Amino acid sequence: MCSLGIDAGGTLVKIAYWQKDEIETINFPATRFDLVKEWIGKSNEKLQICMTGGRAKQLETYLGSENYHYVVEFDATVQGVLYQLKKQNLQIEKTIITNIGTGTSIHYLSGTIHERLAGTGIGGGTLLGLSKILIGTDQFEEIVKKSEQGSRKWIDVRVEDIYQNNQLPIKGSLTASNFGALLTAEQGVNDENDYVAGIQGMIGEVISSLAIQAADTKGCTDIIYIGTTLEENEMLQNVIASYTILKEKNPLFLPQHGYSGAIGALLTI
Ligand SMILES: Nc1ncnc2c1ncn2[C@@H]1O[C@H](COP(=O)(O)OP(=O)(O)OP(=O)(O)O)[C@@H](O)[C@H]1O
Ligand SMILES: [Mg+2]
Repeated sequence: MCSLGIDAGGTLVKIAYWQKDEIETINFPATRFDLVKEWIGKSNEKLQICMTGGRAKQLETYLGSENYHYVVEFDATVQGVLYQLKKQNLQIEKTIITNIGTGTSIHYLSGTIHERLAGTGIGGGTLLGLSKILIGTDQFEEIVKKSEQGSRKWIDVRVEDIYQNNQLPIKGSLTASNFGALLTAEQGVNDENDYVAGIQGMIGEVISSLAIQAADTKGCTDIIYIGTTLEENEMLQNVIASYTILKEKNPLFLPQHGYSGAIGALLTI
């Protein structure tokens, strides 16, 4: 018998499965349930499937079976997070878990207790949507690559841009206004890269600010950031990590950023 954990999210369907002693993963666009069905159909073995995620019921209906297990999204996510922490020999007593998916949700986990603390519509969908209107592409890899070559200098207003010759009330390099510099600065030479760098900066700063506030309310220092928006996205990770560290919290990124839900679903079978 072969087991699959499936996290059907707003943008991506993630699948986790065992290959010998290792967990392998694959994802498909949530608009392409046909590809998911085709991939599952290739298995010669009888399958045991556990589903999670906001589109789990839609996918179940599409696949035409009612024999699947179902696990609540955050329960699956926690199991997937704990599995990855254990693999890295990390033990965490209490933590904030910030899931940057299509949108972002922020939870608190302490032992077996968990609580949803906050959320924002700013997330991976925002990155794709704003990039589409500003630079004409919604292709994640291309957006990330461009942003890493971009500069936010003429996009954002920094605190030090405003407090010239005045004593700084906070660190001068912090952003005072995302995209606010577009009103006054001279345009850069590589505007496409700079626009997407600005979008990534805005998303990272909004999300880390919320996560830090959530950590403050619970008196915890660890913040685990997950979600496929972080996959091979060094710039977003850097924005998030540097602000989180500045606020004296400890940012953690897991090796399989987007797959915690799918891994957790697999482990509950
Ligand atoms: N191949 C890809 N195709 C589309 N988006 C991608 C891809 N790789 C990374 N991303 C990014 O990941 C984001 C989706 O993240 P994730 O898979 O964690 O969300 P989701 O589970 O589908 O959504 P939610 O949890 O909010 O329902 C996209 O919005 C995009 O920014
Ligand atoms: Mg998700």
